[in-house]
Amino acid sequence: MLVSALPIPFRNSCPILPLTCVEVDYQIGTTVLLEALSFTLSAGGPTVILGPNGAGKTLALKLCHGLINPTRGTLRWSDAAHDMPGRQAMVFQRPVMLRRSVAANIEYGLAVHKVPAPQRAERVKTMLELTGLVALAGRSARVLSSGEQQRLALARAWAMQPEVLFLDEPTANLDPAATSAVEELIIAIAATGTKVVLSTHDLQQARRFAAQILFLHRGRLLESSAADDFFKQPRSAAATAFLRGELWW
Ligand SMILES: Nc1ncnc2c1ncn2[C@@H]1O[C@H](COP(=O)(O)OP(=O)(O)OP(=O)(O)O)[C@@H](O)[C@H]1O
Ligand SMILES: [Mg+2]
Repeated sequence: MLVSALPIPFRNSCPILPLTCVEVDYQIGTTVLLEALSFTLSAGGPTVILGPNGAGKTLALKLCHGLINPTRGTLRWSDAAHDMPGRQAMVFQRPVMLRRSVAANIEYGLAVHKVPAPQRAERVKTMLELTGLVALAGRSARVLSSGEQQRLALARAWAMQPEVLFLDEPTANLDPAATSAVEELIIAIAATGTKVVLSTHDLQQARRFAAQILFLHRGRLLESSAADDFFKQPRSAAATAFLRGELWW
């Protein structure tokens, strides 16, 4: 995909960033699931939240997106109006599709956010083209394959042109071809100036995307580094083992 040819306006600033988290805990009952997370999400290339199964990646994304609240510590966006509709979006590992057509799924969010009808139609068309879903535009979204649903979920979120897009394991259930199609889309989204924050347990995927790595293990943030530094010289024993493929949980 030729990024310079994308029919999407380039976003050259994300005023809601940075997002600063200081000593954030997330606890359910007496169990501390995330402990003392401190990190900053800044504008720029993708941040990858990396870690084995159960590390706390999904919870960390939900905290950032405001779906759950810290039980201790602070989480602060640069702009107080960070929760205005459309400024940040999240795509879940198993996206929920509305019981409507593919095109209507994309259009729905735009209508909710009061994008005028002519612009809506234009954006839906652009998104269908960019995500390779033109031929499926009239099909019921619920019958799509996992890979197609993931592309639709990305189209739906991208249509909002958010400043920040959170993606939870966007390729976890996909085959290699669908994975590379979705990765290409994510690269295009990032290239239009949206800040991408993506979770994965896939080391190679992290190498392909990340500008910044947040390495989580058992609910603790062991590293928050520029990706090059992380891959060259991880500081924690757990990350070193993970990079060798020797850390399972
Ligand atoms: N509502 C909940 N109640 C109790 N425990 C929970 C709850 N949600 C998550 N957990 C626990 O918190 C830990 C982190 O969960 P999370 O889903 O964030 O992990 P993850 O890194 O996304 O894992 P995966 O790679 O498998 O998706 C896990 O041990 C999980 O069992
Ligand atoms: Mg998860």
